[in-house]
Amino acid sequence: MCGIIGYIGKRNVSRIIIESLERLEYRGYDSAGLATLDGNDLYLCREVGSLENLKAVLKDYPMKGSLGIGHTRWATHGEPVRVNAHPHVDCSESIAVVHNGIIENYLELKEKLQSSGHIFKSETDSEVIAHLVEDYLKNGAANLEQAVFCTLMDIQGAYALAVMRKQEPRKLIAARNGSPLIVGIGEGETFIASDAPAIIPYTRKVVFLDDYQVVVVEDDILTISNINGTPVNYNISTVDWDVNAAQKNGYPHFMLKEIHEQPQIVKSILAEKIDFRNLDLKVEELLKIKSRILQAHQVIIQACGTSFHAGMVGELALEYFTNLHADVEISSEFRYKHFIAEPGSLIISITQSGETADTLVALKKAKQKGLSTFSLCNVVGSSITRESDSVFYIHAGPEIGVASTKAYTAQLFCLYIIAVYLGVLKKNIKPELKNNLVKELTLIPALMKKVLGVEQQIAHCADKYAAFDDFYYLGRGVNYPSALEGALKLKEIAYIHASAYPAGEMKHGPIALVNPNLAAVCIAPRSATYDKMLSNIQEIKARKGKVIAIATEGDEQIGRFVDDVIYIPDIQEIFSPLLVALPLQLLAYYIAVKRGCNVDKPKNLAKSVTVE
Ligand code: F6R
Repeated sequence: MCGIIGYIGKRNVSRIIIESLERLEYRGYDSAGLATLDGNDLYLCREVGSLENLKAVLKDYPMKGSLGIGHTRWATHGEPVRVNAHPHVDCSESIAVVHNGIIENYLELKEKLQSSGHIFKSETDSEVIAHLVEDYLKNGAANLEQAVFCTLMDIQGAYALAVMRKQEPRKLIAARNGSPLIVGIGEGETFIASDAPAIIPYTRKVVFLDDYQVVVVEDDILTISNINGTPVNYNISTVDWDVNAAQKNGYPHFMLKEIHEQPQIVKSILAEKIDFRNLDLKVEELLKIKSRILQAHQVIIQACGTSFHAGMVGELALEYFTNLHADVEISSEFRYKHFIAEPGSLIISITQSGETADTLVALKKAKQKGLSTFSLCNVVGSSITRESDSVFYIHAGPEIGVASTKAYTAQLFCLYIIAVYLGVLKKNIKPELKNNLVKELTLIPALMKKVLGVEQQIAHCADKYAAFDDFYYLGRGVNYPSALEGALKLKEIAYIHASAYPAGEMKHGPIALVNPNLAAVCIAPRSATYDKMLSNIQEIKARKGKVIAIATEGDEQIGRFVDDVIYIPDIQEIFSPLLVALPLQLLAYYIAVKRGCNVDKPKNLAKSVTVE
C-alpha cells in the first residue's frame, strides 16, 4: 500500500530514490514521484503508471540535489492521475510530503484549511499534511520539526510520512503510526523507507520505528523522538537479507524466481529447525511460551489472503497432530467478531509482511483478551512481530512478486513443524511416529524439485487453457485450501474468474455452471477421499467440462477420466499441500504470461495491505 523513501547524504538523490522505488514498486504502481532539494531549490516530478514512466521523464530532465523523497502509489483517495501522485506540496510549493496510509479526518482538516485560504490541488487525504505544516509555519512554528509535531497532533489515522522544506535544505523529517517505516543508517547518509529491501544495497543497519515515533535528520545527525518530542533510545539492527534476493537473477519475473526458490527455502527451514542426529525438532520460539501452551486447549489462527489459506491447512494439521481444538479466522472478520476463547488459548497470526492492518488489529484484540500471541512472519522487525509474545520467522527472504508463492509454502512448512512439535509436547505423537514424520519432512525439498521438473508440461497445459474465462478449483480435506489458493493465484495474476469449492459441494449448486467452456482443476492426490474425488471428476466430465487433474505419480487410471494430468510425487495426504501448491502456482503463472499480463504487478493489488 504505497512505498515511501527518503534520503539525505552526499550522493545524487534522484538515482538513489529511483533505484529504491524500483524495489518498493510491489507496494503500489498507480503512480510514482519524487521531490529533491538542491540548495533552496525544490524540484518535483510525478508520473502516472509504473515507475518506467517516471524514469523516462527523468532521462531527459535529471534532477539535482542530495536530499529528497519519493513515493510509489496504490491509490486510495483520488484516482491514479498525476495531480494525485505524491509528493504533495503546500500552497507556496516549498514543503513536500510523501505519505503511506490514510488520514481519516482529512475532510474536516481540509475544509478548515480551505476556509483559511489554502488551495488544494489533489483529491488525496495526504495533501492536508503539506498544508497543515505550512499553516503551522505561518502561524509561529519555529522550524519544520515544530510544525510537523503540531501536524501529527491534528491528524488521525495511519501514516508513514516524510517531509522536507526548501528553507531548511539539510533536514529530513519522517514519522510513523500504523504504517511501516524504517531508518537506514549509512556512512554519512541516512535513509527512510517503507521496508528494508528498498535500501539494502546501501546499508544493512536499520532502525525499525515504532508507532508515534518521529525522526529528524539534519545532515548526519539523527534524532528519534516520540510524538511529544521526547527523544527515545533506539536499537540498530542488521538486516541479513541477501541483496541478490531482491533481484530477478535471470528469471523473467520475480514470481517465477520465487517459485523456484521454494525447495531451497524449505531446506533452510529444515536446517534451522531439525536436529538431524536424533530427528528432534527445535522450536525455541515455542519454548518461550511452553508453559502456557501446555495448558492451552484451543488454538486460533488468524490471517488474510494466501496466509489465511496456509492457516486453513495449519488448522487441520494442528488438530491432526495435537488433538487441540483449532479454529481459523479471516482477520478482517475476526477483528469485528464477538469471539469466545478459553483462558490461556493460543493465537497464531500468519503474515508474510507483518504489516497487514487487519491481522495486526485482530492480534491486538486477542492480546487484550489475554491470549498468548504467537506469529509466523517473514519480515523481521515488522509491526506484527513486535506485538507478539513470540515469533517464528519463516525466513523465505524478500518476496517481491505481488502474488505470494514462496511465503505460502514456507508458512505451510513451518505450520507442519509447529503442529508436529506441539503434538510431541502434548504427548499426542509417540517418538517413533515423530521420527517418521520428521524423516518425511526432510524429503520435501527433493520432492519439490521433482515437481518443478515438470514445469514445461505445465507451461504446455497453460497454453491449452489460457483462453478459458471460467475455472473451478476443487479439492477435499487438506487440499480444499490448496484449491482456494490455486484459484486466488489465477484471479490475481491472470484476471480470470476462478471459484474454489470443496469437491463434495459441487452437487449442492456449483455443478449448474459446468459446460464445455469451463475448466476444472481437480486436486486428486492419493488420499482417503481419492475415490470421492474421482466421482466428482466424472460428474464434471459427464457435463462436458474440461478437467486438469493433479494426481499422484503412478496413478494410471485418472488419465482415463480427465483431459490433462499433472503428477506430483507420492507423499502422505496431510503434507500434500506442500507439493500441490507448486503446479498450481506454475499453471497460474504460465496462463498469465500467455495472456500477456504483468505477472509481478497485477492491477489493483499491492503487496502489503496496510489499510483496512
Ligand atoms: C496473495 C497475497 C495476499 C496476501 C494477504 C496477506 O497472493 O499475497 O492475499 O497473502 O494480503 O498478506 P500478509 O501475509 O503479508 O499478511
